[in-house]
Amino acid sequence: DEALDRIARLPKAELHTHFEGAAPPEFIRDLAKKRSVDLSGIFRRDGSYDYRDFVHFLSVYEVATSVLKTPEDFGRLCTAFLEKSAENGVVYSETFLSPDFCGGGDVSAWREYLHAIREAAKAAERDMGVTLRGIVTCIRHFGPDQAKRTARCAAETADDWLTGFGMGGDENKGKQGDFAYAFDMAREAGLRLTTHAGEWRGPSEVRDALALGVERLGHGVRASEDPALVEELAERGTTLEVCPGSNVFLGVYDTLSKHPIDALRDKGVNVTVSTDDPPFFHTTMRREYVNLARTFHWDEAVFTDLNRTAMAAAFCDDATREKIL
Ligand code: HPA
Ligand code: ZN
Repeated sequence: DEALDRIARLPKAELHTHFEGAAPPEFIRDLAKKRSVDLSGIFRRDGSYDYRDFVHFLSVYEVATSVLKTPEDFGRLCTAFLEKSAENGVVYSETFLSPDFCGGGDVSAWREYLHAIREAAKAAERDMGVTLRGIVTCIRHFGPDQAKRTARCAAETADDWLTGFGMGGDENKGKQGDFAYAFDMAREAGLRLTTHAGEWRGPSEVRDALALGVERLGHGVRASEDPALVEELAERGTTLEVCPGSNVFLGVYDTLSKHPIDALRDKGVNVTVSTDDPPFFHTTMRREYVNLARTFHWDEAVFTDLNRTAMAAAFCDDATREKIL
């Protein structure tokens, strides 16, 4: 199908990936072998990551991430990640970086990891034509005190590359408001804000997230259960970082046809498309585009619009934005 082929080959902007979650299983296995760590428990016989549900996914994620030790490891991961992105036609990407896994929240250690990641990103931009920007993320189930340390790392390294602050982790632990101090610190440092909300919890969680002062939401899809909230999102111009393949793989929705992305778009909400943790959820940006085109009969113009929405909500500066799409 020629139209589908054109859609699959479009240049793409992606706003929501977790850096360590983009690590191919081979990459983690090789590193484990080199470090003599037995990680056989987190892989299936076919070599893919093995977990039962979202909470188990988070713990497998942390085990996989534990073999990433040095700044050089994170630099090599950046190259591996961006190679896959470029293969999928991604020209602009924002990724969640976790100081928690890069020195445990210590600012000077974090600087070294960040430096290695940025050097690898610079080379990938030159060699593969994909532009990366970083969003520091705190991890909700690590609690508000650790989030403050994370926000301090973000505030100390905020610039035209490290442009955002966000929160991932287990949405069922604690409340958005518990992290207000961290988000305030990040905002005062000039960082743009996003948080995971409305994936595992419903509309009231999304309202709590808006009260933190974020301009984007990670997922946000369960806002669709409340028409007044959908209208509010459309009015505010809040951008949703929707990850349809992730949602279906983790069972937030049974099938893509039941996913609210098309309905949210119809109601005027700014929706974008991302992969979240591509190898964990057996997806790529190409697959997301093809599956959406097939399921919702979206034509090329819809995807062009999606990419424009993503670049308008991107946390980069205007000069970078104008160079991309
Ligand atoms: N969701 C929330 N937290 C995460 C994820 C995710 O997909 N990946 C890593 N941390
Ligand atoms: Zn996510």
